[in-house]
Amino acid sequence: MPLWKIKFLDVTKSTNEDAKNLISNSDDFVNTVICADKQTSGKGRQGRIWHSPVGNIYASFIVKNEYTNFMSFVSAISIMDTLKEINLPAKITCKWPNDVLVDGKKISGILLEVHDDALIIGIGINVKAAPENAMYQTTAINDFGIKLGVKEILEILAKNLYNNIEIIKQEGFGKIRAKWLANAHNIGGQIQVNLVNEIIVGCFNGISEVGGLIVDTGTEHKTIMAGDVFYL
Ligand code: BTN
Repeated sequence: MPLWKIKFLDVTKSTNEDAKNLISNSDDFVNTVICADKQTSGKGRQGRIWHSPVGNIYASFIVKNEYTNFMSFVSAISIMDTLKEINLPAKITCKWPNDVLVDGKKISGILLEVHDDALIIGIGINVKAAPENAMYQTTAINDFGIKLGVKEILEILAKNLYNNIEIIKQEGFGKIRAKWLANAHNIGGQIQVNLVNEIIVGCFNGISEVGGLIVDTGTEHKTIMAGDVFYL
């Protein structure tokens, strides 16, 4: 993986926390990726737990804190590119804001965190195990008969993430947005979006120029910047 400085750990609490420690204690952290075989306190979005048994991918990529609002899309597309590249025999789609679905089931998670001047892109991909999730159905790469190991898939992911970051730097959000929309799950369908204090139901109409979720409620077009999406 020549484009990233890679650090492998056996067990850790959370690779995102390790990334924060590195950023705080070193001047040389950009383009480092910290990976672990297993996490004991893996973190998901919105304070949730990310169950992290041995056999799955847990990686935190450290980049400069730029293009931050678009990095969830860049990361999701990089995971999607990776699953396509290993010929996963299933339908691979993107779910706002940053999930990748395989036959409609969650296979990965992305947790972006800003720390000092850096952005940490924490990525978990289910390779061997699909830990149960109370909110969504889950699946794993090995469920489809693909026998590649964590390190081989991680190398492909790292290459794709690097390339897609180059695209956003050189060409802006347009190309990434178009690719995301072309692979969006259930565009035009009915969705429910759970916000902190509100539930919105309507037609999924795409994403805005800045990555907001556009929902047509029948009376207005709402652009949502944070929430959990459910397909109806
Ligand atoms: C989600 O809730 O969907 C996001 C899950 C993100 C999990 C990854 S695994 C590597 C990195 N370290 C963590 O503690 N979390 C992220």
